Amino acid sequence: MRKLWRYIIKIGILVLAACLFVFIQRFKKKSYTNVKIRTTPIACIGFRGRLGNLMFQYAFLYSVSMSKGLYPVISDNFLPGDVFRINKTTLQVLGENPTSCGTVKSYTERWPCSFDDRIIQVPFLTSAKFNGYFQSWKYWIQYENNLREIFRFQDTIARRANKQLNDILSTLDFPCCSKNSTLVGVHIRRGDYTSKAVNKYGQITPNISYYLNAMNYFENLYPTVLFIVASDDLKWSKNGLKNKTNVYISTGNSGPEDMALLSLTNHTIMSVGTFGWWAAWMTRGTTLYYKQVFAPGSRYAKDFNNDPSNYIYPGWIPMD
Ligand SMILES: *[C@@H]1O[C@H](CO)[C@@H](O)[C@H](O)[C@H]1NC(C)=O
Ligand SMILES: *[C@@H]1O[C@H](CO)[C@@H](O)[C@H](O)[C@H]1NC(C)=O
Ligand SMILES: *[C@@H]1O[C@H](CO)[C@@H](O)[C@H](O)[C@H]1NC(C)=O
Ligand SMILES: *[C@@H]1O[C@H](CO)[C@@H](O)[C@H](O)[C@H]1NC(C)=O
Ligand SMILES: *[C@@H]1O[C@H](CO)[C@@H](O)[C@H](O)[C@H]1NC(C)=O
Repeated sequence: MRKLWRYIIKIGILVLAACLFVFIQRFKKKSYTNVKIRTTPIACIGFRGRLGNLMFQYAFLYSVSMSKGLYPVISDNFLPGDVFRINKTTLQVLGENPTSCGTVKSYTERWPCSFDDRIIQVPFLTSAKFNGYFQSWKYWIQYENNLREIFRFQDTIARRANKQLNDILSTLDFPCCSKNSTLVGVHIRRGDYTSKAVNKYGQITPNISYYLNAMNYFENLYPTVLFIVASDDLKWSKNGLKNKTNVYISTGNSGPEDMALLSLTNHTIMSVGTFGWWAAWMTRGTTLYYKQVFAPGSRYAKDFNNDPSNYIYPGWIPMD
């Protein structure tokens, strides 16, 4: 019996040694014959959407790259790269070929508006491609200070926003800013959110009563308030707020310019969507958000895994 065991173990060791030999030979051959040895493990993301969406995807990509030792791939035409302090580390800059992102292992999020703990369990130093929206602050909260540096507006945009705010304040003769007088940025997102199909999916945008309630909240806190409004539906906003005298509605700005203007205010009234989300995050004051983040039981509710808390930043205040 013991002899038999010894025999089996000997055979086992021999087989193992043979395997190891073959493996080493193959590995050697590969590293010598491959024209390109990958020294830079890369992280790719299938970017989609507009500014707010792209910022969430970038923040995720930055965080996963930092924690896993990867180089984030940023294309030359990446919009936030023209707005913030983002390095355009293109495939070319990284010494990769144009198809590299298509050849690495790909991972897809489980929820677009929640935190997927599984997707960040990717191996270290191993190229990966990520698919999704990644709308959760939990993905990158450990790098928040870095992201505050990165998501600083480029000089031309920042200068323009400062000038615009000064012009508004002097035109309206607003006594900016003290304990008693304060600026509140308001984002009114309507656009696609007013379409029946989008509503049916479970995405809803608040009525004017929400904005008036939210404005009331700040007017009760501060004797003098100026509301600076940015919206993708100026007609609706002007009409809904026409009875208010302390409202300035921004017109003629690009998206990034409006975001920069809102970021200079002291507090935020959000509506829905990611644009207002980032404006509020940058402003760092009191933030009110529309309580009905998604219609309960809808398909959109599933995008949040039925829980808005991984999306809504800690401390923000729900309003009806
Ligand atoms: C961009 O590159 C500069 C110079 O290498 C570096 O200091 C900075 O941290 C980089 N920024 C980002 C967001 O990676
Ligand atoms: C703020 O308002 C209070 C009450 O109206 C007033 O007593 C105080 O002087 C004001 N402070 C400033 C800085 O304007
Ligand atoms: C907005 O108001 C309309 C008409 O009063 C109402 O039917 C609708 O349910 C309201 N929508 C929301 C999101 O409150
Ligand atoms: C504005 O005020 C008028 C008169 O008080 C009122 O009838 C109207 O409903 C108000 N409009 C809005 C949008 O609040
Ligand atoms: C409010 O915002 C204005 C304009 O950016 C700024 O000058 C002021 O210091 C802010 N006030 C507070 C209390 O942060």
